[in-house]
Amino acid sequence: MKKGLFITFEGADGCGKTTQLNLLKDYLISKGFDVVITREPGGKGLGEKVREILLNYDGVVSDRCESFLFLADRAQNIDIIVNPAVEQGKIVLCDRHTDSTVAYQGYGRGLDITEINMLNNLATHNKKPDLTLVFDVDIETSMQRVGQNKDRMESAGKEFFNRVRNGYLELAKQEPQRIKVINSTKSIEEVFENVKEIINSYII
Ligand code: TMP
Repeated sequence: MKKGLFITFEGADGCGKTTQLNLLKDYLISKGFDVVITREPGGKGLGEKVREILLNYDGVVSDRCESFLFLADRAQNIDIIVNPAVEQGKIVLCDRHTDSTVAYQGYGRGLDITEINMLNNLATHNKKPDLTLVFDVDIETSMQRVGQNKDRMESAGKEFFNRVRNGYLELAKQEPQRIKVINSTKSIEEVFENVKEIINSYII
């Protein structure tokens, strides 16, 4: 593998993606790969400040304002973290990316998906992930995993999360080459076996 890889992890809250991302990071490092992890919203520096607003601000946030904050964070993540690392041949594992905005702000909040796609392209300069893993769980399981201590996004309700989940499944149907859906109701170990099966075909 000469050039770097950009792999994104997606799914509704409580789907287990962050646990799998960390397992994959350790696995890839043990195989000798240079790995960078990042997340949206977040990453580092300014991105973490935007995350704090998005998840914890307790006043009114319009749906469009929410979208633009996610997109601003995305531009920063792509410019400062993702692109430089991929250009150096590293494997970047990113916890959420463009598909989150389509699933949450598009399918979840009901904003226009064509517009979101345009804005996503602006924020990323048209860079696309090489691979996206969607961790799929039923809403009951994901809500149970989230627990009682919910942030602003996690408090959006069951109907919202049903739309988000269906949004991800719809996206996977539209782009089966890039987006792989993994059944994430199974044990952490079983899910990770599926992750490895998919990843191995990219890194060998
Ligand atoms: P998490 O990645 O730690 O689960 O939290 C991020 C929250 O932000 C999660 O509820 C999904 C939400 N989100 C969006 O609504 N749109 C986005 O574009 C992104 C990146 C995240």
